[in-house]
Amino acid sequence: MSGGSERPPSPPRAEAKAGSLGEPPERTKAPAKSTGEPSERTKARAAELRQLLEHHGHRYYVLDDPEIPDDAYDALLDELRTLEAEFPQLQTPDSPTQRVGGEPVGRLEKVEHLEPMLSLGNVRGEQELKAWVARMKAHLGREGIVRRSFEYVVEPKVDGLAVSLLYRDGVLERGATRGNGEVGEDVTHNLRTIGQVPLHIEDAPPLLEVRGEVYMSLGDFAALNERRAEEGLSTFMNPRNSAAGAVRQLDPSLMAERPLSMWAYQVGVAPDLSFETHWEALEWLREHSFRVNSDIKRLRSEDEVIAQCLRWQERRGELDFEIDGVVIKVSDLKLQRRLGSVGRDPRWAVAWKFPPTTAVTRLNAVEWNVGKSGDLRPYAVLEPVAVGGVTIKLATLHNEEDIVRKDIRAGEDVIVLRAGDVIPQVVSPAPHVVEHEDRPPVTRPPARCPYCDTPTVKPNESVFTKCLNRDCPERAWQLLKHFVGRAAMDVDGFGEKQVALLQQRGLVKSAADFYRLRERREELLELEGFGELSVNNLLDAIDASKQRPFARVLFALGIEEVGEVTARNLAMRFRDIDALLEASVAEIAETPGIGEKMGSAIRSQLHDDRMVALIEDLRKIGLRFAEAGLAPTSGPLAGKTVVLTGTLPTLSREEATERIQAAGGRVTSAVSKKTHYLVAGEVPGSKLEKAERLHVRVLDERGLLDLLGDG
Ligand code: IVH
Repeated sequence: MSGGSERPPSPPRAEAKAGSLGEPPERTKAPAKSTGEPSERTKARAAELRQLLEHHGHRYYVLDDPEIPDDAYDALLDELRTLEAEFPQLQTPDSPTQRVGGEPVGRLEKVEHLEPMLSLGNVRGEQELKAWVARMKAHLGREGIVRRSFEYVVEPKVDGLAVSLLYRDGVLERGATRGNGEVGEDVTHNLRTIGQVPLHIEDAPPLLEVRGEVYMSLGDFAALNERRAEEGLSTFMNPRNSAAGAVRQLDPSLMAERPLSMWAYQVGVAPDLSFETHWEALEWLREHSFRVNSDIKRLRSEDEVIAQCLRWQERRGELDFEIDGVVIKVSDLKLQRRLGSVGRDPRWAVAWKFPPTTAVTRLNAVEWNVGKSGDLRPYAVLEPVAVGGVTIKLATLHNEEDIVRKDIRAGEDVIVLRAGDVIPQVVSPAPHVVEHEDRPPVTRPPARCPYCDTPTVKPNESVFTKCLNRDCPERAWQLLKHFVGRAAMDVDGFGEKQVALLQQRGLVKSAADFYRLRERREELLELEGFGELSVNNLLDAIDASKQRPFARVLFALGIEEVGEVTARNLAMRFRDIDALLEASVAEIAETPGIGEKMGSAIRSQLHDDRMVALIEDLRKIGLRFAEAGLAPTSGPLAGKTVVLTGTLPTLSREEATERIQAAGGRVTSAVSKKTHYLVAGEVPGSKLEKAERLHVRVLDERGLLDLLGDG
């Protein structure tokens, strides 16, 4: 029998399911949903949960001062999710469950702002600030108003993107980008995923617009880039770009990987609110669940304003977000209206811009790190230079293509940029050197590995030149360091220096050697900086790391492209190392976030001789190579491998897979000698032939259900 390429269409899912439940096919509903009305008690509980979650969400996201542990919050959220799944009528658009998992949008709709979103004129330094004040006084003078002083509000100018949030009767209705000031884009689906954006506010006027800045914190930005680099993805230039990209994504479920924050800085359109001052408006925002920076100051003289601007300038590098200046606003709203604007720039507000964070210096050399998988990664060695108050000696160069694109040549003057806390970067050659006739050549990666002298190679598919010597000491060190690192096996008290020392002394060659250190305790004690106590602690920490879950072990192996997220996804999908080792490229590629190319790279690294040996070694030592808790080791199908083929009469592929897994079994795609059962539906294809050839037991759906104890 041949599979035949033309499969009949599978029956519509709902019908098949209804049949199995013995219900009339035309009235079908997902089983989790109830057709009934929720009881009064259920309604009250849902309302209570929403209120509790709102309260604790505000404590956590906005005030940064939670009252309950994270898992207690998660438990409340789970309870509400369950209730809403059962009674969809309980779900409200401002429910805390609506922050995640919204539907992707086809494209971003244009939306007109109720009132234009203005921009800001700039001042640099004291003189220009005083000139701005003088212009305001002159303008008011022409209107017959004499003002000798103003009350100012001084705010950080966060470098993110401006958004407008529209609330109707206290419920977030629309979130939009600034766009050109008149027309922005509807990004409600993404903004509602931000914990600091209230979905619901108490005692709100019928119509309220709040404006603010959405940004990515430096911590989140660094973590995001690290993750992306681990997974072989391109990294973002700066937090602003990555925040802007995130907000404009079509699929809100991707926001979870790009955490954003928000500061509210203005009440926009709000016909039923009347404030005298901007300061009052900020206080109102704060009292109504919005996150308003607590370092915003109300000041009464220009000198105080200047001093405050300089303070922000100094503190700039200590903040967890990038600021590119300070915004100074006249607080009196009547005066604001009097002052009006020139073009897009209000007369009543101005941005104090910080001095540039770029500098020109000599690029003394480009040097190369070798990563754990052999990638040669360049960095710049600079003539030390002060940028934005900090002396820098080293700077990032992303990869060799980056060097060529930017035309960077060692020995020349270059422009370096330091943005906030982020690692300095080399931007381009300095303008004056580009004119030169005899420039040095563009820097190329070395022909030999700087650490082991092996000739380097540049595979076509990689942006990196590589050292392929697997005994390269630098590569080995990177790999060992990765293994014990915080996101991997998290061995407390193991820094890169210690790892290097153990490696140099020949105490650790492969990751498995860490677990054999107990046998070499005496040698450890002889090492510099290793006392009795620290050796005991270290050995205990190594032992403790045996308990790390499978996903971490998988990540720790250091497979190129398997970052933390991918490791977790692989662990969830395959549940143990054997299933992963048996999986085909196509099966690996079905894992979220992995495509064909990545799947194939992962598979070949997993099957590499050394990797196989390492896995065996670590497994014997007792590390976890199976997902605990997820795959039951008991159940009617414990230890059994099942392959599915063809269309089953009532169960979908996913349902059958779930039920087999819940019964302790494992589902794989290819029939082999190790397969215990083949479950064949209609039009089974070649798998049936193979199963028959290998004498694998073949079942139909009924047979499977019997095994599951569902007879
Ligand atoms: S007020 C007067 N306040 O700066 C209305 N803007 O060039 C102008 N920004 O697009 C906005 N922090 O993205 C204001 N505390 C703050 C701000 C701020 C950052 C950004 C905003 C705006 C740009 C104005």
